[in-house]
Amino acid sequence: MNKTIAVIRGDGIGPEIVNEALKVLDKVAEKYGHTFTCDDVDMGGVAIDKWGDPLPQAMLDKCLAADSVLLGAVGGPNWEGLPGPQRPEKGLLRLRAGMGLYSNLRPAKLWPQLAQASPLKPSIVEKGIDFLVVRELISGIYFGEHKTVEENGEKVATDVMRYAEHEIERIGRIAFETAMKRRKKVTCVDKANVLDSSRLWRAVLHRVKEEYPEVEYGEMFVDNASMQLVKDPSQFDVIVTGNMFGDILSDEASMLTGTIGMIPSSSLGDGTRGMYEPIHGSAPDIAGQNKANPIGTILSAAMMLKYSFGMDAEAAAIEAAVNKALNDGVRTADMMAEGCTPVSCSEMGDAIAARI
Ligand code: IPM
Ligand code: MG
Repeated sequence: MNKTIAVIRGDGIGPEIVNEALKVLDKVAEKYGHTFTCDDVDMGGVAIDKWGDPLPQAMLDKCLAADSVLLGAVGGPNWEGLPGPQRPEKGLLRLRAGMGLYSNLRPAKLWPQLAQASPLKPSIVEKGIDFLVVRELISGIYFGEHKTVEENGEKVATDVMRYAEHEIERIGRIAFETAMKRRKKVTCVDKANVLDSSRLWRAVLHRVKEEYPEVEYGEMFVDNASMQLVKDPSQFDVIVTGNMFGDILSDEASMLTGTIGMIPSSSLGDGTRGMYEPIHGSAPDIAGQNKANPIGTILSAAMMLKYSFGMDAEAAAIEAAVNKALNDGVRTADMMAEGCTPVSCSEMGDAIAARI
């Protein structure tokens, strides 16, 4: 197969981790006889510096013309002082919205080799951690009106959390469809004891769940969910939630599995064109030092092969290669443990590519 990938290296450690994912994709292409053509796209701080805009239209157009998008990370201290609409993160939000990527899947799975890196007690970890956060990505408080006005001599700021029924229904359907391929359990996480938008989520999900009688459906307030995640993460299979709650809970979820550096994500809309990125940020403190863990990005590339290109065997080969490298004790600094071999970002990429 011939596929075009829009490649956004972005800021901070973005370029380093993306290079390792491309290394692994090259190996897959060679082994399975595919051609992946990469088209470089500027987004985030690097695009602000070069073009004065975190996502110039021409860059969005390149993403829309590609078969899929692979992204490292955006943002950093250089651009922190800028007003909201000009920040690097705004480029990411505009890209997600511009591509219609409403469904963000963030798997939290414990690799047994990394069990000791989890901050949870062994008695909790032993019960298993394997769940998926299905986060709504292009609506809610991220995309409601943001404004700051002057009132009675002081500033007053507002961010609107808005959800329409169709936006809830389509992400709800993704959650139930995904659960059908897993352990058939969906938990809606919200704040329905306070928020109207959450009450609408529940009402819509009650309708959607009728179509999936085999799926066990439950609801949890977000404060309780954040507690349950550390108390007993094994109770979760698919968590479906809004944009901001999903942002927060997926960071918490990732840490349970030992390191945020391992967690990939997919963002999809109605078609097969998606965007794939690790859930961690640009880590400016270690940028340019060849220290970052590239596995989150490498596993994101695997998700791209599976969900956008239908290359299930190739995706499985990448996951197996990661598993082998971990079995062989290869570790980046964030997950280093006694008796293991410490490696750099590029050495981790080499180690995984060599095991394809
Ligand atoms: C994420 C990130 C982004 C988000 C930021 C960079 C805008 O935290 O992908 O989780 O909040 O969605
Ligand atoms: Mg986040």
